[in-house]
Amino acid sequence: MAIRPIAQIGDPVLRRPVRELSKEELASPEMQTFIDELIATMRHANGAGLSAIQVHELVRICAIEVKDNPRYPYKPNVPLTVLVNPRLEPIGEEQFDNYEGCLSVPNLRGVVRRHARIRVRAWDRHGNEIDEDIQGVTAGTYQHEVDHLDGRIFVDLVEDPHTFCTWDEFKRHHEAEFADRVRRLVQRYGS
Ligand code: NI
Repeated sequence: MAIRPIAQIGDPVLRRPVRELSKEELASPEMQTFIDELIATMRHANGAGLSAIQVHELVRICAIEVKDNPRYPYKPNVPLTVLVNPRLEPIGEEQFDNYEGCLSVPNLRGVVRRHARIRVRAWDRHGNEIDEDIQGVTAGTYQHEVDHLDGRIFVDLVEDPHTFCTWDEFKRHHEAEFADRVRRLVQRYGS
């Protein structure tokens, strides 16, 4: 399975508009092969998610999966999920501070406010309807990936630039406290 190069911040592709897919186009062998490559590339890079735009395909598709992820050891597992034409809306007012990183932003993390509960409407890779409530840290992952499909990168949303740090400094100075916060969120929301 082909592993694709991942666009890095500064590449204009990450800011381009993407198009929605029809069911016919989604069902095509080309698009199904592309989805396989998107998943393979996400796994190869140890990403918690990857959006089509990050591998230079301007279509509204992203993949999410967390399986004992070494980049994000505190993240709860999420089964492989492919979202086609996803739309998110917040449920309720509650937000949390999420320390994020991104495969398109080398060696930088920062704190982004995310909704603690969202409703996601999308299709799966076979065109079946998805309509789910997603909660907790996993809701943050969904928002990060769907942001990519709207041309947004997490660095756009960091309110306090003092939270920016490299991955090493995150581990050294911030991971323990953040992992504690994540544990409390997961206790509360189950994900
Ligand atoms: Ni990202």
